[in-house]
Amino acid sequence: MHSPLNRDVPVYVAGHTGLVGSACVRLLRRRGFTRVVTASSAELDLRDHEATAGFLRRHRPEVVLLAAARVGGIAANHAAPADFLSDNLRIQLSIMDAARALRIPRLLFLGSSCIYPRDCPQPIHESVLLSGPLEPTNEAYAVAKIAGVTQVSSVRRQDGLPWISAMPTNLYGPGDSFDPERSHVLPALLRKFDEAVREDAGTVTVWGTGTPRREFLHVDDLAEACLTLLEHYDDDSPVNVGTGEDLTIAALAELVAATVGFRGRIAFDPRRPDGTPRKVLDISTIRALGWAPRIGLAEGLRSTYAWYRGAQEVVVR
Ligand SMILES: NC(=O)c1ccc[n+]([C@@H]2O[C@H](COP(=O)([O-])OP(=O)(O)OC[C@H]3O[C@@H](n4cnc5c(N)ncnc54)[C@H](OP(=O)(O)O)[C@@H]3O)[C@@H](O)[C@H]2O)c1
Repeated sequence: MHSPLNRDVPVYVAGHTGLVGSACVRLLRRRGFTRVVTASSAELDLRDHEATAGFLRRHRPEVVLLAAARVGGIAANHAAPADFLSDNLRIQLSIMDAARALRIPRLLFLGSSCIYPRDCPQPIHESVLLSGPLEPTNEAYAVAKIAGVTQVSSVRRQDGLPWISAMPTNLYGPGDSFDPERSHVLPALLRKFDEAVREDAGTVTVWGTGTPRREFLHVDDLAEACLTLLEHYDDDSPVNVGTGEDLTIAALAELVAATVGFRGRIAFDPRRPDGTPRKVLDISTIRALGWAPRIGLAEGLRSTYAWYRGAQEVVVR
């Protein structure tokens, strides 16, 4: 079992400009960590094995939070599966090979709930990983992420380093991408309904049938979970991080409509892919460590929408 981290250890957050990485940096600073190390992708392309090794040798972090990845929704995964596979494999291997060579004692790898088999029993327990076929719409991404989880457990076995993996559910919050080409369902809906209000549109059409069930976790809750795991978890199995509660995409669309003040009609386009029919995590492992989600969906949607509107005003000014 790990112990609490000293606030003066160097912690490298890979992917600090992203949704997860930025939330982790905010939390670490709030908790008094004084040596948070970061580098943007312009400063350090993590696909570059040698450059990444040099960066880690210079900064000698004692903790690595691996939240850098090529990430996207169904459309982006469908359009560029080879890039999702190649970029994620290379980012993971660059960081993990360099961290192994330096015997960096703690590393947390971010997997994802979308790498579990498509038709696994619900709620999803960590033990079902690799027990069946994957969801085809993001298979390349999932295979890369499964390689990352396997790399973590292999390093534990071969080198005795107590590295760990987390499996977050769908995340949202400040710092999310609202770009229509690459955003996930929740920010895509916020943007769509916001535009409908602004354009006074009578109908909003949502991709798919509206029937798939999904779970959403605020990214600030995930950041708390990452710190809990780094301080209190040391085991081979990845750990699910979610709310343990799901809702239909139709119900989510109604909540989003209420958040942005849309009063028109919500339609569905069943010609668009639905993805996995249901996805909700069994979060008993992380609950047993004392972590629980704190931010409810309605509250999280309100603050995320406020952040989105604020970010848009900055762009317009
Ligand atoms: N978002 C979710 O719903 C979700 C759910 C489950 C798991 N996760 C996992 O959480 C992790 C982070 O996801 P996220 O949503 O925070 O993604 P994100 O917002 O797209 O951020 C990705 C981060 O990775 C960096 N990055 C990408 N390619 C890079 C490269 N070649 N070199 C250096 N940096 C690079 C990006 O830097 P630039 O901005 O400079 O490009 C950015 O900081 C991923 O492993 C993902 O699988 C996310």
